[in-house]
Amino acid sequence: MNIKRLRRHWDALGKTDPLWANLTNDDKRGGKWDADEFFLTGEQEIEEVMDFVGSRSVTFDHGRAALDFGCGVGRLTQALAARFDDVWGVDIAPSMIDAANRYNRRPETCHYYLNDRTELARFDDGSFDFIYSNIVLQHMQPRDQRRNLAELVRVLAPGGIFVFQLPSAPLPVPVPKGGGRDSSDASSPSRRRSSSARTGACVER
Ligand SMILES: C[S@@+](CC[C@H](N)C(=O)[O-])C[C@H]1O[C@@H](n2cnc3c(N)ncnc32)[C@H](O)[C@@H]1O
Repeated sequence: MNIKRLRRHWDALGKTDPLWANLTNDDKRGGKWDADEFFLTGEQEIEEVMDFVGSRSVTFDHGRAALDFGCGVGRLTQALAARFDDVWGVDIAPSMIDAANRYNRRPETCHYYLNDRTELARFDDGSFDFIYSNIVLQHMQPRDQRRNLAELVRVLAPGGIFVFQLPSAPLPVPVPKGGGRDSSDASSPSRRRSSSARTGACVER
């Protein structure tokens, strides 16, 4: 799916069922997420991610700037804002950014930015000590994944940490009788569950 279609797709989801579009637990479809429960999954996930980073025996400046790429309504951005001084959530969909601003409980620390291109021109080289992206890159064409990854590495500070999730193979999804979509189909909402155990890679500089 190209960037324009990706934006339309996520914008429509952000208008109809934003929390479920971010975390597609079957029983939460149709506006059934409780917002507190939803944001708690973000706190738990960031805690797991930080434990994972800590387990790699790397050090970096926990105090400064973090970026959540593909932030949606800010499930993870809000949790990062409890750990960093300056946190940016970037998303391609206006409706997601609108919802993220509505749910923003830490406006002094947490900022949201709409970006509908593969370049992150808003940010200078080396702007972030920590970058996280989960359930985002898997929805793009490989060419755009590579471009986004290159940009994210550009805005990572020397000595910073970049953790991202990217499936290395299509997930085994049962195909309904009469055909169905491949699990790697970018038009399907996320099937990723909240667990950093499946985080695909960690890049250190
Ligand atoms: C499944 S949601 C995950 C949201 C968030 N990462 C989380 O785990 O709660 C995927 C998000 O990625 C955003 N997204 C998809 N492609 C993007 C792109 N090229 N640039 C920025 N955001 C993108 C979508 O708009 C959507 O909000």
